[in-house]
Amino acid sequence: MATPRDFKIAPSILSANFARLGEEVDDVLASGADIVHFDVMDNHYVPNLTIGPMVCEALRKHGVTAPIDAHLMVKPVDRLIGDFIDAGASYITFHPEASEHVDRSLQLIRDGGCKSGLVFNPATPLSYLDYVMDKVDMILLMSVNPGFGGQAFIPGTLDKLREARARIDASGRDIRLEIDGGVKVENIAEIARAGADTFVAGSAIFKARNADEPHRYDGVLKALRDELASV
Ligand code: DX5
Ligand code: ZN
Repeated sequence: MATPRDFKIAPSILSANFARLGEEVDDVLASGADIVHFDVMDNHYVPNLTIGPMVCEALRKHGVTAPIDAHLMVKPVDRLIGDFIDAGASYITFHPEASEHVDRSLQLIRDGGCKSGLVFNPATPLSYLDYVMDKVDMILLMSVNPGFGGQAFIPGTLDKLREARARIDASGRDIRLEIDGGVKVENIAEIARAGADTFVAGSAIFKARNADEPHRYDGVLKALRDELASV
């Protein structure tokens, strides 16, 4: 890598304690996280049901000012894009298979003043990017099949990351390359070397509270950053 990348860590609140979500988000941000990764599942596009725009808005009202990265695992997507713009999302990403009109959905996100992104399942080809590189601010590669936290990283995603990194570099555009699924202290450096700059981690962070301070996650965040510093 010619220039050092600006690495960002995005805890997935899917693995947080939903009964005290505001405090969990405050705690993980105070412990040094950069971005709040917000997983939206609809029991239709993926086999699970989570949280929607009302919860995103509630976090903003609670006082969360960090970027909120809304990962929409829903079909159809366009109405929820509008709802998440209104709810205060910063990034809105969706799966191209879930939209009938990918270009239009990306434009809706940008028109709402948010950063836009496409999400690629393990078997989804990157060719969906061919004609929309000028309309994405983030490319999110799934390293598990979407729907659940705590799954194992699919190793073939490393080659796909290298391919996505090459596309971004060739475009000369400022596009973040995010990875989601099975990221942990043991593999984050290898994932960064393959080209990712934004790292979602759910179970690896929320299952690793500081031993002596139950409301802090500094230990695991420092371990993740130490690994990134070695890249
Ligand atoms: C899976 C979600 C992920 C999930 C990651 O469909 O998109 O964001 O929370 O969880 P871990 O980091 O536990 O694999
Ligand atoms: Zn996600």
